[in-house]
Amino acid sequence: MSSENASKIVEITFPEGYLIQTERLTLRPPTVADVDGLWPHVTNPEITTFLAWEPHGSKDETQGMVQALNDAHQAGTGFHWIVLVNQQPIGIVSLIDVRRRHRSWVLNRAELAYWIAPESQSQGFATESSRAVISFAFRRLGFHKLMVYHASDNPSSGKVAQKLGFRLVGEEREAFQKNSVWHHLMQYEMLESEFDKRTTDGMKDPTK
Ligand SMILES: CC(C)(COP(=O)(O)OP(=O)(O)OC[C@H]1O[C@@H](n2cnc3c(N)ncnc32)[C@H](O)[C@@H]1OP(=O)(O)O)[C@@H](O)C(=O)NCCC(=O)NCCS
Repeated sequence: MSSENASKIVEITFPEGYLIQTERLTLRPPTVADVDGLWPHVTNPEITTFLAWEPHGSKDETQGMVQALNDAHQAGTGFHWIVLVNQQPIGIVSLIDVRRRHRSWVLNRAELAYWIAPESQSQGFATESSRAVISFAFRRLGFHKLMVYHASDNPSSGKVAQKLGFRLVGEEREAFQKNSVWHHLMQYEMLESEFDKRTTDGMKDPTK
C-alpha cells in the first residue's frame, strides 16, 4: 500500500473556486451543513491527542469551528478543506498561520495541517489530500513556502510530511505543552521550486 501510494501518479483538478478533485477524494471548504458529518470525528479524542484543540462537547461548538474556518478564509488568514470520500467527511486539511508579509519583507508562507478520522487512516488519504492542497497553495494562492510541524511523538504525521517531499529543517525542543506534557516539534518545509521538481517525479498536475 505504502510504496504504491508514494509512486502512484495522482491526478489533481481544480474544477471551480476552492473545489479540488483527486483520484479518490473531493476537497471543498466546510459549511454548517457538514456539522453532523463532522460530529463523530471532532468528538474523538484519538484525533486531538497532539492538536491545539480538544474534542467538541456540543454541536454548537462544531458550528462555531466551521464559522471560524470560513471567517479565516474570508480574511485570507487560513484556508480549510473538508476531505470527502463518497460524499462523507473523513477529515480536514488546512493552510494555517498564513503570513504574507512582515513589514517590507515578502513572506508568502503557511503551515500545512491535517487530520483524518482513525477508521480512514493508513490508506494514503492524508497524503493524497495534502498533495492536492499543496498544489492549490502554490498554483492558485501564490504561496512561496509551506511548513509542516509535528510532535516528535506523533510519527505518522512526520511520515506524511516525508512522503509529500518536505525537507526536515530541525527540531524545536519543548515547543508546546498538552495535558501537562511538553512535546518537541519536528519542523519541515517545502519551497514552491521543490514542489515543481516533484511534479516531474510522480505527480501529474494539469494546472501547471
Ligand atoms: C497523521 C494523520 C493525518 C495521517 O493520516 P493518514 O491518512 O493515515 O496518512 P497516510 O495514510 O497518508 O500516511 C500515513 C503514514 O504513516 C504511517 N504510520 C502510521 N502510524 C505510524 C507510526 N506509529 N509510526 C510511523 N509511521 C506510521 C503509515 O504506515 C503511513 O505510511 P505508509 O504509507 O508508508 O505506510 C492521521 O494519523 C491523523 O489524523 N492523526 C491525528 C491528527 C494529527 O495528529 N494530525 C497531525 C498533526 S501535526
